Amino acid sequence: MRVLVGGGTGFIGTALSQLLRARGHEVTLVSRKPGPGRITWEELAASGLPRCDAVVNLAGENILNPLRRWNETFQKEVLSSRLETTQLLAGAITKAPQPPQAWVLVTGVEGEAEPRTNTCRSTAAYYQPSLTAEYDEDSPGGNFDFFSNLVTKWEAAARLPGDSTRQVVVRSGVVLGRGGGAIGHMLLPFRLGLGGPIGSGHQFFPWIHVGDLAGILAHALEASHVQGVLNGVAPASATTNAEFAQALGAALGRPAFIPLPSAVVQAVFGRERAVMLLEGQKVVPRRTLAAGYRYSFPELRAALREVVA
Ligand SMILES: NC(=O)c1ccc[n+]([C@@H]2O[C@H](COP(=O)([O-])OP(=O)(O)OC[C@H]3O[C@@H](n4cnc5c(N)ncnc54)[C@H](OP(=O)(O)O)[C@@H]3O)[C@@H](O)[C@H]2O)c1
Repeated sequence: MRVLVGGGTGFIGTALSQLLRARGHEVTLVSRKPGPGRITWEELAASGLPRCDAVVNLAGENILNPLRRWNETFQKEVLSSRLETTQLLAGAITKAPQPPQAWVLVTGVEGEAEPRTNTCRSTAAYYQPSLTAEYDEDSPGGNFDFFSNLVTKWEAAARLPGDSTRQVVVRSGVVLGRGGGAIGHMLLPFRLGLGGPIGSGHQFFPWIHVGDLAGILAHALEASHVQGVLNGVAPASATTNAEFAQALGAALGRPAFIPLPSAVVQAVFGRERAVMLLEGQKVVPRRTLAAGYRYSFPELRAALREVVA
């Protein structure tokens, strides 16, 4: 299969490209910067979709960058980097003389970052944070704050008229993996024994190992029966933020008891973005399992052992 991956130069895209190439597929990236094995967004806009069998979009400005003030300009960038790249790809697919077989977008169930080190990784949340509700792919959401509205617009921008191309949306949890993502920034404070829960620690922490997110995306591309929304979270979804902090401390052989107070998170990120860290959702991958995906890292402790090894 020839797969075109928008934003494929990042953390998830690197894992996905490696997996796809290992399975014998050809990968071309769409990036803001030209380079070997890539086309730019301008080239895509000017020349249309290159010949390909499947398309994925992973492009998006990092939402929880604490170096950026949460003002209107930055909100527009967060939104437009996702909507415009998605619209461009969806439009190019619609106009392609030979439409690809599959079109897969990655959005988010939740957001996470590590403010202690002033750097972070994030996503946008579709399901409303709750300490009691359990969400699957059919649960309502996407209409309660800036981020959930963003996911609704993002997923709408991906929708294609007709059914000549299979359409899949993977709503991802916090992605754990070596050399990137949230965990890349958490490792130093946790190694120093300075890690711990964020806020109360009771909020759910929907997570997935990057190998499994790449695996779900590859499954969605390859399996012709997969379509619609899949939750990209591990099946052990009842993990709380405090349990996650404890498990990461245990994987590193360090204590992880120093809580990061809500007030600090709110001061760094502002109240609207702080919600992404201080609140969480219990999300289950019901359709992902029903679609036949088998997880390599269903359990948190094994996932974290691989990440910190
Ligand atoms: N990591 C997570 O925990 C997580 C969880 C759920 C959902 N997601 C979503 O999954 C997608 C990929 O995440 P990731 O962790 O791989 O992110 P990443 O490492 O930041 O990579 C995203 C890519 O998007 C492109 N990009 C960044 N800003 C852009 C802009 N303003 N306009 C156009 N392109 C831009 C960049 O590619 P170029 O520099 O080559 O243009 C970058 O490599 C994002 O949409 C994110 O919201 C991530």
